[in-house]
Amino acid sequence: MGNIRAAVTGLEAWVPEYKLTNHELAEMVDTSDEWIMQRVGIKERRILKGEGLGTSHLGAMAVQSLLEKNGIAPDTIELLVCATVTPDMFFPATANIISDKCGITNAFSFDIGAACSGFIYALQTAASYIEAGHIKRAIVVGADKMSSITDYTDRTTCPLFGDAGGAVLLEPSDDENGIVDFLFRTDGSGKKHLHMKAGGSVRPASHETVDAREHFVYQEGQSVFKFAVSNMADISIELMGRNSLSPEDIAWLVPHQANLRIIDAVGRRMGVPAEKVMVNIEKYGNTTAATIPLCLHDYRDRIKRGDNIILSAFGGGFTWGAVYLKWSLG
Ligand code: UT7
Repeated sequence: MGNIRAAVTGLEAWVPEYKLTNHELAEMVDTSDEWIMQRVGIKERRILKGEGLGTSHLGAMAVQSLLEKNGIAPDTIELLVCATVTPDMFFPATANIISDKCGITNAFSFDIGAACSGFIYALQTAASYIEAGHIKRAIVVGADKMSSITDYTDRTTCPLFGDAGGAVLLEPSDDENGIVDFLFRTDGSGKKHLHMKAGGSVRPASHETVDAREHFVYQEGQSVFKFAVSNMADISIELMGRNSLSPEDIAWLVPHQANLRIIDAVGRRMGVPAEKVMVNIEKYGNTTAATIPLCLHDYRDRIKRGDNIILSAFGGGFTWGAVYLKWSLG
């Protein structure tokens, strides 16, 4: 890595108003508030309602407030990367649509598809352009309208997901704070445990695929659970080790929010005490690419400038990874 560090200099998130509660879900499928709270730790999730509103709306709402609250002129943004598995459409990229909605006209923009690891992959991608000195101002968005690919007749997946968007501003750091290091991995053989069966080029949409309900998240929960715990924890431990960080040196662990039991197990395996682990899954569920910026946003007032933070994620692919950053916002 070169001498320039990329720093998070702005942070915003946006969730829709509608709250889908466990009690409402229990009227739709054979489930209960007790089961969902015990097994997953989710109380409610936000759902984006409204004709013609997709993931770009979630992302654009976050980006719009990022620009306004930081007094940033849209035409000074040089890059916008959006992580999502629920793009508005196959093409153009949702990043392009968000840029257009927010008046960002001097940037190049593209999407990154790495499921629940999408935000950290996108963050490091944008950071690399800054570290290389190519650009000075980027926006990284994590946004997913998971309700658009959730089967509300399947009790094994429908309690899990929600809709949200988060966005960060990235600029060259003028001190030692910023993104320090990262470690990412993928294992495509994990596809069988977590995927969407149809709608892509292998199995394009047809009456048959719609009738078979193949345009929704398919997940073998128990297998994914085991891989999530070990891979998120072990890659974070490896990243901390090579940066000579012990759990005491870490101010915050920000894990992807898929299941409270996964979050707790990752913290324990890493030796990071619960009070240093960010958790907001109860309010929003798993919002895929949005969980990490949404979590940072919820905890924003408690994070101090210079804090050592580990972001850690695991998702479909399989994809997983961890990012080490020193917080730049005061
Ligand atoms: O973000 C991307 C990565 N995704 C993840 O990290 C998710 C990883 N997986 C998980 O979080 C968990 O595996 C789930 C939350 C998906 C499921 O929890 P689990 O403790 O692994 O449950 P299970 O699949 O082993 O199912 C246990 C029982 C089953 O009944 P039987 O076979 O024991 O009679 C299920 O049919 O719970 C039943 N069940 C439910 N019962 C009430 C499954 N879903 C529900 C439900 N309500 N919603």
